[in-house]
This record gives sequence, C-alpha cells and structure tokens, in this order.
Amino acid sequence: MKTSINLSPTIIVIFGGTGDLNLRKLAPALYNLYAEGYMPEKFAIIGTARKPLNDEQFRGTLMAGVNSFSRTGKVDKDKWGTFSENVHYNSVDVKDSASFDNLKVTIDKFKDEFGAGTQIVFYLAVSPDLFPSIAKRLAKFKMAENEDNCRIVVEKPFGKDLDTARELNELLKCRFTEKQIYRIDHYLGKETVQNIMAFRFANSFLEPLWNRNYIDHIQISVTEQLGVGDRGGYYDGSGALRDMIQNHLLQLLCIIGMETPINLDADEIRDKKVDVLKAMRTFSAEDIRFNTVRGQYTKGWIKGDEVVGYRSEKDVAEDSNTETFAAVKFFVDNWRWKGVPFYVRTGKHLAQTSSLITIQFRDVPHHVFPGGAAEHWQQNRLIISIQPEMSIRLQVQGKRPGLDMILNPVDMVFDYKGTYTTESPEAYETLLLDVMTGDQTQFMRADQVEIAWELLMPVVNAWETKKSLSFPNYTAGSWGPEDAEALIARDGFHWFTLPLSKD
Ligand code: BG6
Repeated sequence: MKTSINLSPTIIVIFGGTGDLNLRKLAPALYNLYAEGYMPEKFAIIGTARKPLNDEQFRGTLMAGVNSFSRTGKVDKDKWGTFSENVHYNSVDVKDSASFDNLKVTIDKFKDEFGAGTQIVFYLAVSPDLFPSIAKRLAKFKMAENEDNCRIVVEKPFGKDLDTARELNELLKCRFTEKQIYRIDHYLGKETVQNIMAFRFANSFLEPLWNRNYIDHIQISVTEQLGVGDRGGYYDGSGALRDMIQNHLLQLLCIIGMETPINLDADEIRDKKVDVLKAMRTFSAEDIRFNTVRGQYTKGWIKGDEVVGYRSEKDVAEDSNTETFAAVKFFVDNWRWKGVPFYVRTGKHLAQTSSLITIQFRDVPHHVFPGGAAEHWQQNRLIISIQPEMSIRLQVQGKRPGLDMILNPVDMVFDYKGTYTTESPEAYETLLLDVMTGDQTQFMRADQVEIAWELLMPVVNAWETKKSLSFPNYTAGSWGPEDAEALIARDGFHWFTLPLSKD
C-alpha cells in the first residue's frame, strides 16, 4: 500500500448518496483510492439523500455497492473498517432549506476538527432537475464561498439542449466561479483516453503524419450490447445523440483533432479542444439528410438471451421517436483536417461492446507490388481500442514468410494487459482524485459544453420535429441500421471492428 499523498483534509458531500451512481461508481472509486493510499490523511464522506438512515446503515449500503461493483472485488475487511469510519450520513431534502442548516452543522463540525485549509467537495450525483435547488441553497447558506477550497462536481447530462445548458451555466456562474465547477465527462478519466494524449504528444514520429496529407478518414465508434435497462425514463427524453455524442464522442474527437498544447495547463488543453469544436462544420439541412443516421432497436438476441424492443422497455413511450443509435459524419474545417471525414457512431443493444478509434491513412502513392502479391492489400490503420480491450495497434503491410513475395496486413500491438501487470484505475478514481487535487484538465469548461450543444442543435431539432417513419429500424444484437453502413460505404469505407476477444 502506498503512503498517503499530500492532500489537504477533504470533506466530500455526495448529494444522491443512496443513488445508483454512488453505489456503482463513486463509493467503489473512493474506497479504491483509500485502499491504494490516495485519499487525504483526514477526510470525511458525507452521503445525503431524503431517506432517514444512520451512519451504520449508510455504511452497509455503500459496502454492498462496493462489493458488487468495485473493479477490485469485495472489500478487504480491515481496510473497509478504517475507511468506513470516515463515512457519514445526513438526511437532506434538497428542496427544503432547513435540511441545509443541518448539513452545514455537520460540515462545520468536520471543518473544525480538520483545521485550516480543509477543502469541501460537493458532488451532485442527482437528477439534473435538482441541480438548481442544490446550487441555490449552497450559495444561500454560504457553504461554498471559498473559491480555493470549495468545489462543486456536476454530473451529466449538462443540459438537454443549448438553452438549458446555458441556463445551467448561468445559474452556476452566478453562485460559483468557473474554477470551482467540475463538469464530469467520465470518458476523459479513462486510462486509454488519457493515453491518447501521451501517444500523440510524447512521440515524435506521429505528428508529421497527423493531418489531411496522410490521413484519409477517422472513425470513432462506441457500441454497447446493453440496452437502456431501467433508465428508460431518462433515456426516452434523451437519445443517443444527447446521451453519448454531445459529450463522450465529441470529446474523443477533440483529443484526436486538437493541436499540440504548449503545456499541460488545464485551460491550455481545454482551449485547444474548444478550437476543434469551433472549427467543426455547421450542419445544413442537406448535411442532416445525407450525413446523419438515427436508429432504434427492435427485439432481438444479445449473448443468447432474447431482449425486448426499445418501445417495450420500462418507462419508454409505445410510439417513442427516441434514437438508440446515431451515426454522424463530421468535418473539422481547419488547416490540419480540411476534407477528412470523422465518422462517429454509437448505439445500444448492438453486436459488440467496444469503443474504438480508427485512423485510416492514405494509400501509398504508387503500388509497386503486382496484384498477385498484394491481394490482401490494406491501407495503414492506427486503431486505438479504449475498451474492453485496451490497446493501440498499427496495421501495416508485411511480407508473408516463404519464397514468394506475398504481402499480408499485420498488426504491431501495444496492449495494456501484455505490457503492464498493474490494473488501471477506473475513470471515477482518476476524476475524483483530480477534483481533490484541484486539476480541472479532464473536466468540461462552460464554453466546451455550450459549443458542443451549438454544433448539434440543428440535428437535435431536425430529429425532434421530423419523426422517423422507419423506427424501429435495427434488430437488437445487430450492428445498427443499414443506413449507417450506407453512410460510410458511400465514401468507399466500412465501419471497422476488432475480432471478438477469446477471453
Ligand atoms: C453514460 C451514458 O454517460 O455512458 C450511458 O449515459 C452509457 O447511456 C455510458 O451506457 C457508457 O459508459 P461506459 O463507461 O460504460 O462506456
């Protein structure tokens, strides 16, 4: 076990303490940070929700969450024992000011105990309609006044469209400074996503090739086997474009597309990402017709089990027009990327769970090998697999062993499993540690969120006003609607997938 890193005493208040996010993600992340020596020496985790619970009951609830969902498996009894002494519960109705009075008393008690320099993190792991009540009351009770020591973490979805995102930014900005606001996009905390920065900016061979002269197109594909499960209530008002593309996929696109930062300062990195979003081509009505595809699943089979169609999912309207699949062809109109299509797709209940970024390089200018030798010719590809496989592979042509000159595409692979023995942290571990150390690099700045919404609004509006007549248009367990294949096939490409791993 590592020794504690030098962090100021920290109080973490989790609104939505008994909710799914805390049980599945936050509590396991905090416990793992503690187990590996990354929590401050003095800390308190205060869970809040409306339910009346005592500390012991709350600790039991969290332990069940950690046991079920932690990447490290069931808790170690001793470590859990000492960790959970720092876990407390405060019943709070976020719409009732009186409960904030009580919460303030609890926080002040720990502040006095921990001494000067204690930092407070307020984590809003609640439904977005409760964000305003919480933000207003934190301000009213002067609970987050110190901009150096008080931070507020806001979960997604950050708005439902451009107007609501602006409204929420306004509401937060009136009460907190941008330095205090941590808008989460958990994809940015993933080990393999952070590695894209290392791969791009710590290796000299790549930069000269990383542009329109050498790259012919880019694919970003995040496919899931899971359906909407019990999140139908939320999802039916959202859809794949809002739920995944506006945030996770556009952020991946920004990391691939950004210019080289001068340093790793949070604002320097975020400025470079915003530049990509600013350069993205606005959608005309014609672009929406030809460069976007939406889909919705009907019943089918996933891993041998029959699953229902989207419209039969719990809390989903019988005639729902919500897309569970979206594919979009984007362009980044700047010097580096002009003319290079970025194909992006995501969807639920698809054939594989896989997040892949494929960079396909241009063909060689002249083929010197005869047709017979190059029967399996394939342009070079760089494939960044974010999950479940964590790897980067460069696909190159090589000579097949033998007396004849026959070419074959082969992979040069860097794979986390084969290279490292240490397990990678979960995204939430990385991000929670960043919040505690005050590093905003992997969090969305107000302008990033708004400009991403601005870009997508023509598509959001068009899809909302013009109902799809073809829904449902793909079978659960397939690769999505045929139109998504056509979108990329029209340009002479196809969606790239990795063969299913055998483990
Ligand atoms: C969330 C979306 O932000 O990301 C979910 O709301 C989606 O619908 C999830 O399933 C995917 O995250 P991950 O880390 O499992 O790829």
